[in-house]
Amino acid sequence: MSTPHNNAQVGDIAKTVLMPGDPLRAKFIAETFLENPVQFNTVRNMCGYAGTYKGKKVSVMGSGMGMPSIGIYSYELYKFYGVENIIRIGTAGAYSPKLDVFDTVLAKDCWSESTYALAQGGNTSDVQLPSPQLNEKIEQAAKELGIELTLGRIHSSDVFYHEDAYNFDFYNDHGCDVVEMESFALFHNAKVLGKHAACLVTVSDSLVTHKETTAEERQTSFTNMMKIALEAAINA
Ligand code: HPA
Repeated sequence: MSTPHNNAQVGDIAKTVLMPGDPLRAKFIAETFLENPVQFNTVRNMCGYAGTYKGKKVSVMGSGMGMPSIGIYSYELYKFYGVENIIRIGTAGAYSPKLDVFDTVLAKDCWSESTYALAQGGNTSDVQLPSPQLNEKIEQAAKELGIELTLGRIHSSDVFYHEDAYNFDFYNDHGCDVVEMESFALFHNAKVLGKHAACLVTVSDSLVTHKETTAEERQTSFTNMMKIALEAAINA
């Protein structure tokens, strides 16, 4: 069996999948951290791999950018491939002055102006929640690795480029610490399908200090987050 967007066969994919946005980051993670990685998806170059980490089967697959994209891939993984847990590992921009580039943030919840949950299943809430069990595994993994983790509220935005004249303050108005573009749809899909999702992000740029990281750094320097996610994945 395959889907319109994934040519994996049932059984090819591990029950826990790490999802970076960038498919090339999925390739990098698989080739750097997994033993015997095998590519299970080639459709639209949305690379997905399964391999082992410390002897346990784990998968990693790109989600693409934005809620419609992660909405499709995560729904298919949960519904058609028996996936139980998805840990999004991404980058985010910091709204909070307390956060610096390369800080690692675990979503305690996410807020969005998106209509994804409404359009998908009639859910009118503007807040979606991660799995407490998966968050606990992630916090435990970070503690064991001695890596500092900040719990925060994610703004899952539909828009990367806002009009200059549009004044927004998601930090003060909605309590959002960082901004990315996927977790709201992922958490909603997990909820409607009775599955588990979490979201770990590394701060790649600050909307307060305007510090930025390069594309190359984004691909290679997020080792802390990947290690946490992999340790959590094998214990999930
Ligand atoms: N906006 C939205 N998504 C992001 C950003 C941002 O500034 N930085 C990293 N992901």
